[in-house]
Amino acid sequence: MSFGIMKVERKPQSFEFYREILKSAKYFLAPMVDQSEYAWRVLSRRYGAQVCYTPMINARMFADRNGQRYRDEIWSTGEGDRPLIVQFCANDPESLLNAALRVQDHCDAIDLNLGCPQHIARRGHYGAFLQDEWDLIYNLINTLHKNLSIPVTAKIRVFPDVDKTIRYAKMIESAGAQLLTVHGRIREQKGHKTGLADWEQIRRVKEALNIPIIANGNILYFENIEQCIRMTSVDGVMTAEGNLYNPAIFANINPPIWQMAEEYLEICQHTPTRIPYIRGHLFKIFRPALSIHTDIRDSLAKVNKLEEFVELTKEMKRRLLIDVEKHKQEDNVDVDEKGYKIFPHWLCQPNIRTLKDEPSIEEHKRRDERTVQDDADEQETLSNAMDIFNEL
Ligand SMILES: Cc1cc2nc3c(=O)[nH]c(=O)nc-3n(C[C@H](O)[C@H](O)[C@H](O)COP(=O)(O)O)c2cc1C
Repeated sequence: MSFGIMKVERKPQSFEFYREILKSAKYFLAPMVDQSEYAWRVLSRRYGAQVCYTPMINARMFADRNGQRYRDEIWSTGEGDRPLIVQFCANDPESLLNAALRVQDHCDAIDLNLGCPQHIARRGHYGAFLQDEWDLIYNLINTLHKNLSIPVTAKIRVFPDVDKTIRYAKMIESAGAQLLTVHGRIREQKGHKTGLADWEQIRRVKEALNIPIIANGNILYFENIEQCIRMTSVDGVMTAEGNLYNPAIFANINPPIWQMAEEYLEICQHTPTRIPYIRGHLFKIFRPALSIHTDIRDSLAKVNKLEEFVELTKEMKRRLLIDVEKHKQEDNVDVDEKGYKIFPHWLCQPNIRTLKDEPSIEEHKRRDERTVQDDADEQETLSNAMDIFNEL
């Protein structure tokens, strides 16, 4: 397929791209709808993220001649925001290319989302719901490969059968992808069925392909990153939730939650950020303390101005400093019977819901309750995204 665009003579290929442009990065911030926005990327880079992805952008809407409002809402970058990979969801090569052309001078690669398993992706016919349409995927990737001046990458989920995953990954490589992120879960692993990611599948993909492979899934603590690299031999590791609950995960520290909130809000002062994104981040950063300071949870759900988030953070800090004084002896991080670290509630820490295997009946019940809440959170996130889509 040709769109009358001059073929690019030479762009860095796979490991050359990885070494020269991505500087052999190991720590990748995942694409996250409503959550890997510019302000968050600034904070994450400050604490060790070496490559960042934008949230998924709908290529058709982004390429639309009348899509200025959507573009302004969804796309923002600035000084220091590199290396940056812009992720699109798409099912039409022409609009994908047109969307990518709009940003190719401001980022280092274009990523195709082949992993989103949500209902919204089923309805929109993109993400993991393209997983069975290999010709279409080939065309999407190959069109970018042939017509962009920067590399194309992809992010996939695995199939239940590892040999099929490898054939799939090789097809994507042959279409021109210069780097592949493998989320080691199948399409059906979402919500309360999330469970563990399969690192063995990721290892097999890494062994079979000749482009850099980034692993995704099962990262709770910094040490899981090294563990994952050891077990799979991947080039880098990507985390989404690990970073949302602890933006300093890549720096191997668990800072006080108020510190991360203050720094993020300070960045938001000079980096215009949509209120739902800010609220989403503070809910996650504050999560360990919200079951204790429940009135702050209620306020967080209601406030609507940056200054109000700043005031709430001040109040949270005031209370947590009192808690720190009261519980001085709890400063040491302990480990529970399943090996999960127990942090005091004033420190950033992972949300361990997805890694609890073989839970007790009581845990099952609690987990179901949490799942309802998590599904609601996810719904809220996606409905924020949908609001933007629908307003157009
Ligand atoms: C809030 C949120 C938004 C997400 N949005 C995207 C997205 O825009 N594109 C994408 O490919 N994956 C998206 N994901 C999936 C993550 O990138 C990642 O694949 C998944 O969460 C597993 O990684 P983790 O175990 O480190 O969380 C999202 C995940 C979360 C939690």
